[in-house]
This record gives sequence, structure tokens and C-alpha cells, in this order.
Amino acid sequence: MFLQHNPVSVSCAVLQIDKYLYSMRFSDETLKDIMSRFRREMESGLCRDTNPTASVKMLPTFVRSIPDGSEKGDFIALDLGGSNFRILRVKVTQDKKQPVQMESQVYETPDDIIHGSGTQLFDHVADCLGDFMEKQQIKDKKLPVGFTFSFPCAQTKLDEAVLVTWTKKFKASGVEGMDVVKLLNRAIKKRGDYEADIMAVVNDTVGTMMTCGFDDQRCEVGIIIGTGTNACYMEELRHIDMVEGDEGRMCINTEWGAFGDDGSLEDIRTEFDREIDRGSLNPGKQLFEKMASGMYMGELVRLILVKMAKEGLLFEGRITPELLTKGKIETKHVSAIEKTKEGLKKCMEILTRLGVEPSDEDCLAVQHVCTIVSFRSANLISATLGAILSRLKENKGIARLRTTVGIDGSLYKMHPQYARRLHKTVRRLVPDSDVRFLLSESGSGKGAAMVTAVAYRLTEQARQ
Ligand code: GLC
Repeated sequence: MFLQHNPVSVSCAVLQIDKYLYSMRFSDETLKDIMSRFRREMESGLCRDTNPTASVKMLPTFVRSIPDGSEKGDFIALDLGGSNFRILRVKVTQDKKQPVQMESQVYETPDDIIHGSGTQLFDHVADCLGDFMEKQQIKDKKLPVGFTFSFPCAQTKLDEAVLVTWTKKFKASGVEGMDVVKLLNRAIKKRGDYEADIMAVVNDTVGTMMTCGFDDQRCEVGIIIGTGTNACYMEELRHIDMVEGDEGRMCINTEWGAFGDDGSLEDIRTEFDREIDRGSLNPGKQLFEKMASGMYMGELVRLILVKMAKEGLLFEGRITPELLTKGKIETKHVSAIEKTKEGLKKCMEILTRLGVEPSDEDCLAVQHVCTIVSFRSANLISATLGAILSRLKENKGIARLRTTVGIDGSLYKMHPQYARRLHKTVRRLVPDSDVRFLLSESGSGKGAAMVTAVAYRLTEQARQ
């Protein structure tokens, strides 16, 4: 039977790992320090003089309000850049019971397309959209399209978005520095068999905030903890130097994944973080994202296990080709290993597949490594989210902040302990607040449709 272990050796393994991974465990003091560092980064991204050299870009989104419930219409939403490429049809009505109806389809985005040329990528998107419209029998209509494009984009209006740099798994050539609306329009025109009116490009964080904002008017922050990680929030226009005007608020896409790209997190990065970065598609970039998001978490665990095995601290020193293979431990495995009941059994299965012949004690040790790595991620994100919340509180000049954070992302949704740890730490770091965390059940596509709905209403009004 599993777990007939000696309690002394168990605590020994855990203690040993705690010591071994000491630099991945943060005190509240360190978290508060990271929080104030991020506050400074936000300020330097917002300020005209420091923005050009700031690593956290604080991109204006031209989204000025959350949905007010008066939106309606028939929309298409494209969602590219998360774990799935999805196309949705979103019908928004004034029906009280079911105001939003959605139908969606997931399309493959093979590696040769996301690493090929930009033309290939946008041809593929246009092909999938054509297929979707065909199936929905709307090829003869010119429906307004909202485009959730989950990468950093410089925007000067809602329907223009210049890709600053690719992040995560994407690296198609000839797209950086280009307006993705133009590229998609060009691809659609080339096909010539349908028309589309791309009215808004939104980041997935913005889509999430808008989706949650539809159900909770207090929502003024959107965060993603999935393949990548990022957040947006509503900032006072008078603080956004890069945009004209002083009245009201605008949503800022922070692109917090790039926190640390100027060296400001060097003291907390470990040898494992550096190794991940060296082997990545974008060395030196998105350093915070590489410490915290789902795309890198399994690999971080694997690198730690390899080192520990090499030092004879795990698997009696056995190292197999599988264990040495990049990508063999995925974030979904980390989630499985940390399950309260079956975690250790899963751990045994996963490690056995790697051929390392684990003992019960090895399984406990590996489970503890996973806990430290995923806890570090939740802690880091609590610190950056804490910084946003404390800024919101200051902006409003109130003693206690009552707000809602819309959240989405595979890591947050699938990991058994992640959400609880994150909520608890945020509440500890920002004690004078009542924060509601609202999971975006329907993804960011609905939000993109909301933004499109508002844009559509405004252009219609202007036309009249
Ligand atoms: C990456 C992207 C960012 C996106 C996030 C979550 O950090 O740069 O735009 O929001 O991933 O998908």
C-alpha cells in the first residue's frame, strides 16, 4: 500500500527540500518589497518620460468603461493567443434571463503556423473564420468582429493594434511592428468569399475584465494566469500621460509578464529561472512570466528534479533520458501531483513513466517541490496584483477598497490549490480591502464581443 512511510523520514525529506529551495520561498516582507517594486514599475510605464525605457509597458487599451448592460447585437469574437484558438458567435440581447448566447468552435494552431510567416498565420485565421461563418450560415453577412489578441499591442484606437513583441509560444515572422487588424483584413480580402468588420482588438485580460464586468459592475481588474500571465485595470485618465484627456478612466494593459526584464528581479531569480530563460523563444524577455505562468511551471519542476537527482537527493541518483527531456513534465502534471487525495498516486505514475523508479519518499519529495514552485507563482502574482489594488485604492482616495477582480487562465482554473493560496495572500498583502475574485466562466470572447458592441453602438450613433 502507498504511504506506509516512516514519518521521520517524511519530514526529513520535506525539510531538506525546504532548505534546498530556500530561495523560492518568500516571506511577507519580501512579497511587500516586490509589491512596491511593481508599484514603481507601473508609475514609470505610465509616465511619458520614463515609458520608452520602462519594462512594464502599461499599454492604453482605449476601453473606457465596463459594460453597462445596454449592449446588444450579433457579433463574432476571435480569440487567439491563449491555450486554444477559438472563434465565437455572441448574441447579446436585452433578455433578462439569458442576455448572452454563445456558440464557439476551437481550431488548431499547429507549431509550423505559429512559428512560420505572419502571412501564413493570418491566412490560417482567415480560413478558420471562413469555415466558422460557413457553418453558422452567415457568410453573406458582414458582422462586427471583436478580436481578442493576447499579446502586447500598442493601440491609438480600438480597431488598430500594433504588435510590440511576440510572447509565449508564438513567433511568426513579419508581424512585430505591424497592425494586426490590417494583416487580418488583408488575409480576408485575399480570400474574397466573405467580409468582416474588425471593430475592436482587446487583450485577453481586457476581455476577461469585460466578461466579468457584465455580471458584476464593480469589476475593474482582469487577470490571466494560464500559458502566460498578465493583468489590466481601470486607471484614471489624468495619470495616463500617453493619452490625451483628463476626465474619466481607461483600461491599461499592464503586460506585467515583462516585470524584471530590466534586472529588477535579479535578486529573486534562481539558477532554474535562468536556465528556463536561456532555453526559451525570447531570452531576456518576460522574466516575471517565466517565473509564474503555466507555460514554464512543469519545466521548472523538471529542472529542479534533474539537479536533485544528479546530486543523489532523489531516485537514488537515477537519471533517465525521459527525465532529461525538455517538456516531459507539464503544468497539468504539477496540478495532478498537488491534488490532496490522489496526488501521491499520480506522482508515482508520472515519475514511473519517466523511468526513475521512484520510492514513496521520492514521491513525497517531488510533491513538495511542486508545492514550492506553484506557491511561488501564486505569491508573485499576489504581490503584483496587490500593487494594482493598492494603486486603485490610492486613486480613489478611500480608506477601504471594495472591488472585483475578474480572473481566467488554465493554471488558476485547473490547479487544485492555486486559487485559494492566491486569494489568501492577496488579502494578507492588502488588508484594507474587500476583494471579490470572479472566475470568468465563459472566457474572454464574451468580453471582446462586449467591447465590440459598445464600439458598434458608438459608430452607429455617429452615422445617424
Ligand atoms: C502574455 C502576453 C499578454 C497576455 C498574457 C496572458 O503575457 O504578452 O498580452 O495577456 O500572456 O495570455
